[in-house]
Order: sequence, then structure tokens, then C-alpha cells
Amino acid sequence: MKVLVIHGPNLNLLGAREKKIYGKITLAAINTELAALAQKHKAAIEFYQSNIEGEIVNEIQKARKKFDYIILNPGAYTHYSIAIRDAISGVRARVIEVHLSNIHAREKFRQTCVIAPVCLGQIAGFGKDSYRLALEHILSL
Ligand code: DQA
Repeated sequence: MKVLVIHGPNLNLLGAREKKIYGKITLAAINTELAALAQKHKAAIEFYQSNIEGEIVNEIQKARKKFDYIILNPGAYTHYSIAIRDAISGVRARVIEVHLSNIHAREKFRQTCVIAPVCLGQIAGFGKDSYRLALEHILSL
């Protein structure tokens, strides 16, 4: 099993950014936890972070041949990136969308999700565990 984790814009600032919403955990710490879980299950995992929409599109297009599943936190692109949505449906990537915060309980604009309809599902609101739950699901398949 090969899994790619894609973190979108501003997630590189985790640990310093809006701690009340996103917690104190850093992106590096999230990745380390996921890597340990993947290793336990003898699965391969890689990580990618970008603040740039087009780079995320490129990564999704490339991933189809290399990875079985993608865990994607699109950050703010969640709410309006038709380009990321089209990349997923265009290459028929198997994607689980994740969010640290419960976007459905926040501002109105965060309740619009243009990418989720082309994903296998969405996990939101469980902090770093949103990523873990997505990976555990993939590992159970
Ligand atoms: C987020 C939620 C988004 O609305 C926000 O723009 C983010 C983080 C989350 O993980 O909770 O950058 O994707």
C-alpha cells in the first residue's frame, strides 16, 4: 500500500498558527506520527506540502501512477478550488479529504466544500486524529 499525504496552504505554519483552532501540533509531528503508523503496517507513505494551488494539481496528477491513496488537507482551497477538484476527478485519484477543525461548525464560507464530492469521503474536526483516522481506514482496506 502506498499513500501520499498532501497538506495545502498555511499548514506549514501549524504549531504557530491560530493555536486555539488548530492546536499546538506541528506539521512535522503529524507526519512523524503517520509515518510510524504506516511503518507498523508495512505501508509506504510520503508527504508533500505546498501553498500553491497549481503545485497541488501537479502532485495529484503525478500521484495516480505512484500511490494507491491520497490523504488531502486542501486548506482554504477546500472552499473554492475547482482546479484541485478537476485534478482528482480527471485522474480518478482515490482521495480522503481531511481537516483538523470542524469546518461545518465554522464560518459560512468554510461550509462550502467543492472538493469533497469527488473524494471517497471527508473527515473533519478531530485535530491530528483526522489524518490518523483516514490512514487507519486506508490500512484496513
Ligand atoms: C483547514 C480548514 C480550512 O478552512 C482552513 O482554510 C485551513 C485548515 C483545517 O484543517 O481545519 O487552512 O483545512
